[in-house]
Amino acid sequence: MRVGLYFTPHQTDEFALRDQVVVVIDVLRAGTSITTALANGAKEIIPVTTVERAVKISGSLFGDYILRGGERNGKTIEGFNLGNSPAEYTAGKVKGKAIIYSTTNGSRAIDKARYAREMTICSFVNLSAVVRFLGVLKRDFHIVCAGNNGMFSMEDSVCAGMLLQQLGELKGVELSLSDAAQAVVALHKNFGRSVSKMIKNSEHGKYLAQIGAAGDLDLCAEVDKFDVVPQLVGNVIKLKKETEKNEFVKTTVQVQ
Ligand code: MLT
Repeated sequence: MRVGLYFTPHQTDEFALRDQVVVVIDVLRAGTSITTALANGAKEIIPVTTVERAVKISGSLFGDYILRGGERNGKTIEGFNLGNSPAEYTAGKVKGKAIIYSTTNGSRAIDKARYAREMTICSFVNLSAVVRFLGVLKRDFHIVCAGNNGMFSMEDSVCAGMLLQQLGELKGVELSLSDAAQAVVALHKNFGRSVSKMIKNSEHGKYLAQIGAAGDLDLCAEVDKFDVVPQLVGNVIKLKKETEKNEFVKTTVQVQ
């Protein structure tokens, strides 16, 4: 399997990613919050890049069946029900709801992958589930890290490195890594021993702590808390269908 990697969504576009298998990684916090919401029973996440669009498409069902979630500068957007803390996406709040969702970097990365053949969301909280999925899919793929305002981010890169490390250990999987993909494996070797410490030392981690969201850093560091694979289906993100999921969960993928 050939693996390419973009450190930020700015390095690629929707045409380069068209018909490709894409894994979007946003540890702080979009990937973690989307995964948490779906694992807690949200029906679907509707990703949008602008606040205006979120307001426009929420329509008359807003508040009842549809919620708005996301952030700008890490803070809840005015008129939105939910911010971007994974702690907010509890079953009590999101079960059965569709969430129109817009964030600064994660939504941009998702948008770039909108014509992908398969697009999955990965962060530390569902890392092994995504590894298993890719191990069964056995196709070339690209990782798009959400980064931080167009810049490299340590937490997304280390998460990508952990994913590639684990995938490469699966029996029958042979990886051919681009230079960028090799670099994140090296970063994971250096910084992946303590995910929590690495996240707290990251630029965005420090920013979130400064605006009072330090508790989120621990939630985003919980490796394999959820056994789910969020996937873009049409214009919405849903959990991979149970039937499909069983297919890849049941397939025995042994570690060498
Ligand atoms: C983003 O997508 O930019 C982030 O998830 C920012 C955040 O809420 O920490």
